[in-house]
Amino acid sequence: MEFVFWVESQHLKEQLFHARKYSGFWSLNSSVGSKSLVIIGDSQANYKLKEPTWGASKLCWPQGTKPTELAVDVGCGSGQGTRFLAERFGKVVGTDISQAQIQEAKAAPSPPNVSYLVCPAEELPFEDASVDLLASFTAAHWFDIEKFMREVNRVVRPGGCVAISTYTVDMSLHYGTCSEKLTQIFRETWGQLLKYSHNRVKHVLEDYKEIFEALPFPDKKRITDIYDKIPMTVAGVVGYLESASPYQVFMKNDPEAAKTLLPEMEKRLLEVMGIPSRETPLEFWVRHVCILGHKEA
Ligand SMILES: C[S@@+](CC[C@H](N)C(=O)[O-])C[C@H]1O[C@@H](n2cnc3c(N)ncnc32)[C@H](O)[C@@H]1O
Repeated sequence: MEFVFWVESQHLKEQLFHARKYSGFWSLNSSVGSKSLVIIGDSQANYKLKEPTWGASKLCWPQGTKPTELAVDVGCGSGQGTRFLAERFGKVVGTDISQAQIQEAKAAPSPPNVSYLVCPAEELPFEDASVDLLASFTAAHWFDIEKFMREVNRVVRPGGCVAISTYTVDMSLHYGTCSEKLTQIFRETWGQLLKYSHNRVKHVLEDYKEIFEALPFPDKKRITDIYDKIPMTVAGVVGYLESASPYQVFMKNDPEAAKTLLPEMEKRLLEVMGIPSRETPLEFWVRHVCILGHKEA
């Protein structure tokens, strides 16, 4: 048994699982509902995965085993992933380079086994071979990959695991029979914004390929087809783009063009949908990528 790992997002509704055999591991991921879920464990373990819908509370450990001890969430931000890991690990430490983010994480109610530290991902304050799970959610593309991987190799214990995930910019809109047209309009707009994204986003655009290749464990896998299906409205889609950092950069560089971009997109979306209300619900799909690795015991 190694560990059970999952990435939570907001709207768990229904789930579909594909089982995959991955060297000595089974890994399963949910592709329906907005909870991206990845489970890894010894392929000999006797998981009970019969329930049609199951959330984190129903995840089970292989029989006769206990949750592993120390999980570290690198680039934890406000700690949403860190707190989620707390139920399944003896001790969880969230780390982030930003003092402000760690303050925010500390301000939120956390279980007693969770703590937070300000430190760079490239200099982790953990003993050699002391970490059972090193996780990082939507953060690794900001790290100095070479130095971070050196730290990963140093702190993860033999037999320990790594799980690095991010959502991608591969997003689509789903509504009745016009999903393709809506997605095309959305992507045209997103494409304009991406010109203003930080160059680190290249890692996300290439599905964390370089990060995967840099992980120094031979036993590893990159899963690129985990889909979150998020109930949203047209207004919500516009709001999402408005809050995206490339849009903020666009606003600074070319405010006139930026101000017209989103209302224009909204108008086109509503026209295609044939409805007047921006509060009309649709589904917003986001693809996630996850890198899983296991350090040889
Ligand atoms: C997009 S946020 C993700 C936060 C959190 N993991 C989540 O899923 O909500 C990326 C985080 O990475 C942190 N970060 C960026 N560069 C870092 C570095 N070199 N070392 C540690 N944290 C870093 C940022 O401060 C930020 O909190």
